[in-house]
Amino acid sequence: MNAPLTPSPIEYAETFDRIADALHGPGYTILPNALPDNLSLALREHCQSLHQSEFKIAGIGRDQEHQLNRSIRSDTIHWLERGQPAVDSYLDWTEQLRQAVNRRLFLGLFDYESHYAYYPEGAFYKKHYDAFRGQTSRVLTTVLYLNPDWQPCDGGELLIYDGEGRVLERVRPEFGTLVIFLSEEFPHEVLPVNKPRYSIAGWYRVNNSLGDAIDPPR
Ligand code: OGA
Ligand code: MN
Repeated sequence: MNAPLTPSPIEYAETFDRIADALHGPGYTILPNALPDNLSLALREHCQSLHQSEFKIAGIGRDQEHQLNRSIRSDTIHWLERGQPAVDSYLDWTEQLRQAVNRRLFLGLFDYESHYAYYPEGAFYKKHYDAFRGQTSRVLTTVLYLNPDWQPCDGGELLIYDGEGRVLERVRPEFGTLVIFLSEEFPHEVLPVNKPRYSIAGWYRVNNSLGDAIDPPR
């Protein structure tokens, strides 16, 4: 019997503590194998089983001007929705993390949105912020990588910068690695990839909605 896909919060208390400490300290963390291996594997299999037509050109911020977007990012994305076992388990885990971080840091994280990202050969995402102070409800960024045996020559590293433009980290998008950072604090970029690259990018948001309107609209 395989271990259940969804880990219990007790099992992950230590991981959640480490994440909360890191967010309180440097504001980011890089965790190899944060989730159970069989969950990351099931996510990779699900992502790869999706048809290319289920991946869409990604938008940037509020405007959906694809021409401009393509010069900044050339990945394609598929928003995660509940209803598939691996996705459900992943969203259970991120929900546990949301509650744990709120308990420890009082960030008031309200919800979590996430998508698979597929970078075909040559794709990239130029230096950007995921959130601008006062303009968005995105507070915390997560990226989970789904690429076994990623070699330095495969490119596609995530560069994380500080506010002054110095490179803080160079992250290989290796299977099971989870990166978490404060969305408003760290510019970052994805270097061009030399082979297909799969990941899940996600954002914890605070509730800036007025009435029924969720901010920002997708
Ligand atoms: C993003 C992003 C980083 C990565 O989707 O906003 O910056 O390493 N992704 O995939
Ligand atoms: Mn980003």
